[in-house]
Amino acid sequence: MTAPIIRTKADLHALTLGWRRAGEVIGVVPTMGALHEGHLSLVAAAKVGCDRVIVTIFVNPKQFNDPKDLEDYPRTENEDARKLARFSVDAIYVPDPDQIYPDGFSSTVSVAGVADELEGEHRPGHFDGVATVVTKLFTQTMADKAYFGEKDYQQLQVVTRLSADLDLGTEVVGCPTIREEDGLAMSSRNLLLSDRARIKAPALNAAMERAKERIEAGEDMTTVLGEAKAQVLAAGFNAVEYLELRAVGTLAAVTTLEGPARLLAAAQLAGVRLIDNIAVG
Ligand code: PAJ
Repeated sequence: MTAPIIRTKADLHALTLGWRRAGEVIGVVPTMGALHEGHLSLVAAAKVGCDRVIVTIFVNPKQFNDPKDLEDYPRTENEDARKLARFSVDAIYVPDPDQIYPDGFSSTVSVAGVADELEGEHRPGHFDGVATVVTKLFTQTMADKAYFGEKDYQQLQVVTRLSADLDLGTEVVGCPTIREEDGLAMSSRNLLLSDRARIKAPALNAAMERAKERIEAGEDMTTVLGEAKAQVLAAGFNAVEYLELRAVGTLAAVTTLEGPARLLAAAQLAGVRLIDNIAVG
C-alpha cells in the first residue's frame, strides 16, 4: 500500500495526534531521499520497533557546504515512494522547504565536541545543518524513536548527543552499514560515480579492512594508517581527507588500541566524496 505523502507540518500533526492519543510508538527514519537498501534497512528496523513509521525525505540545504554537491544531489521522489510501498510505512513526510525554514528562520543547533573533527573539520557548518534539521524533524514528527545508520557514524554520535542534551524525547537507534557485494558502503552519492570510478570505489573499504586486521594484530598504527592511505591513492582515488582510528562514541583520538575503536575515512574519487567506517578491536 502506498503511504500518504505529507507536505506540511499541519497535516503531519493532524495525522500523528491520533496515533499519540492511542498510545502508539512512533518511529521516524530521516533521509534525503534517493533511497537504497541502506535506507530501507532502517525502515525495516523501525517497522519492527514501532507501531507507526514515518519516513522523511528532505534534501537539507543547510548541511551542504558545497553548492554543486547540493545541486547534483539525486532527487527521485516517485521511485522512493514506490520503494517504500513494500514496507507499508504510515507516512512519507516530504516537507515543503518553508515548513522547515520559514522566512526569517534564524536559529542554529550546534553540537560541540563530537562534531568538531573529522567531517566537522572537512565540511565546515555541515553538522550545524544536520543538528538543526534533525531537531526540527524530531519535534515536528514527535517521534519516540529515530533510526540512523552507522554508515554516517559521526552523525549518529552527534544526533545521539543532541537528542539527550536538548531533552527531545526521541531515542536514537543506530543500525549497521549495508554494503554492496564488493564492500562499497551503499550511498545515494554512489549514483554519481562513473562506471570507471565505480570499479575503483571498493578500494577504500578494502584498504580499511586490511588496516583493521593489521592494527588488531598489534602492528604500528602510524605505519598501518599511512600505508592504507597510500593504497587508496594507488587504487585511483584523488585524495584521502582523513583515515583515522577514534574511540567509539566520543570519537576521541586513539594512539594505541586499548578499547573498542572505529576506523573512519573520507576520500575523493573522480569528484565524488565517499565516507566509510568500520569497527576495530
Ligand atoms: P541520508 O544520507 O539520506 O541518510 C539517511 C540515513 O540513512 C542516515 O541515518 C544514514 O546513516 C543512513 N544510511 C545511508 N547509507 C546507509 C547504509 N549503507 N547502511 C545503513 N544506513 C545507511 O544522513 C542523512 O541523509 C542526513 O544527514 C539526515 C540525517 C537525513 C539529515 O538531513
